[in-house]
Amino acid sequence: MTVHFIGAGPGAADLLTLRGRDLIAACPVCLYAGSLVPEGVLAHCPKGARIVNTAPLSLDQIMAEIVDAQAQGLDVARLHSGDLSIWSALGEQLRRLRALDIPYTVTPGVPAFAAAAAALGAELTLPELAQSLVLTRTPGRASRMPENESLTNFAATGATLAIHLSIQNLEQVVADLTSHYGAECPVAVVWRASWPDQRIIRATLGTIQGEVAGSMERTALILVGHALGAEAFVESALYAPDYDRRFRPQSADSIYKDSRE
Ligand SMILES: C[S@@+](CC[C@H](N)C(=O)[O-])C[C@H]1O[C@@H](n2cnc3c(N)ncnc32)[C@H](O)[C@@H]1O
Repeated sequence: MTVHFIGAGPGAADLLTLRGRDLIAACPVCLYAGSLVPEGVLAHCPKGARIVNTAPLSLDQIMAEIVDAQAQGLDVARLHSGDLSIWSALGEQLRRLRALDIPYTVTPGVPAFAAAAAALGAELTLPELAQSLVLTRTPGRASRMPENESLTNFAATGATLAIHLSIQNLEQVVADLTSHYGAECPVAVVWRASWPDQRIIRATLGTIQGEVAGSMERTALILVGHALGAEAFVESALYAPDYDRRFRPQSADSIYKDSRE
């Protein structure tokens, strides 16, 4: 018996890996994390599978489901939205499974920030404008932030920010970021990226609050940074016609001439 943790993607049912789909189809038990896992993904469960929404369950109750499945020798598909490496409660579940000696696998999924960037048609790292992406959040009722992980600290780098779980803190986000990025800095809010009711607002740090007013649906990502919507950026050297590189040696005496392996 094995528990298969599977990233169920950002919303669209077809943004699921083939490995994830096949594992779901092979597991007679499916535990899925609440409203963010689309029904289309659950449709891959085999006929007669036990399908449990874990949103109203405590960690102890979730573990009880897994221990029950283990007693019956049934594999479990454990679904979380997006990818499992960020804000999925994967860490605490794996720790419990290790303590109980229950085997598990982890299959990645498409994270929400990638779906939001795709919806915007944007690359979040542009040459010389932004070469880092910070995946972060602001404090919530159940989650304090480590002291040094403040938005102002991240803002000091000028990196592109993908701010999760924070649309309700938009006023504070704008206050923290404006002195570093400037009021003209582009911002995009993407609600429910890749779902049929996806919604996008593009604005600036100076105007975003007025634009968003009242749209407090929580499944939203706030993306901030000068790379968003920029047209004035240099092309990457990698594809420049005269750039000497291993896969495209530029002259007979290139140091890469004989190293195409
Ligand atoms: C608990 S976190 C889960 C993140 C997820 N593990 C991932 O890989 O993206 C939930 C937050 O992710 C963001 N989120 C998740 N799905 C989203 C979507 N389809 N569109 C926009 N934001 C989304 C929102 O900020 C939401 O509050």
